[in-house]
Amino acid sequence: MLTLLRTTFVFLGFLALGSGFASADRLVQSGTRKTSGFRLLDQAGQADGQKIFQTRCFVCHGRGGKGDGPSAAGLPEKPQDLTDVNWQRSIADDRIRSVIHGGGAAIGKTGAMPPNPDLTQEQIQGLVAFVRSLAAK
Ligand code: HEC
Repeated sequence: MLTLLRTTFVFLGFLALGSGFASADRLVQSGTRKTSGFRLLDQAGQADGQKIFQTRCFVCHGRGGKGDGPSAAGLPEKPQDLTDVNWQRSIADDRIRSVIHGGGAAIGKTGAMPPNPDLTQEQIQGLVAFVRSLAAK
């Protein structure tokens, strides 16, 4: 009887251990899935941001973000070269969001950079992701 009990306990112990490992495994797996999910979302946002950039920002900032768009010459202030690594390092995402939403005036710069109050938070986030991708490598 005692042996039977002991075997049962050992067996239950193995079961517990086994399921513990299994759930740890599952956690790791779902963790990986989550990360790649976020990465996918980020890429989708960046693609959206790229589309918006190439329809309404390129006229001043240029297709590649260098500040050489077709309308740049007529502006009172030169558009920021968005590929400049030093500028990229100096500016926080929050400030990029503000300047896109509220225009240059929102961050103490000139109104030569117009506001975009119609863009959603997601669209602005996509633009930030695209602007970040412009940094010279
Ligand atoms: C009419 C021209 C024009 C358009 C359109 C325009 N910008 Fe600008 N942008 C500027 C100018 C000019 C500046 C520099 C303003 C200054 O230094 O006073 C600027 C500055 C910026 C900056 C840098 C701000 C800083 O702190 O240095 C970012 C980022 C930016 N623009 C992003 C965008 C994005 C994204 C779009 C499209 C949604 C866009 N701009 C559309 C003219 C434009």
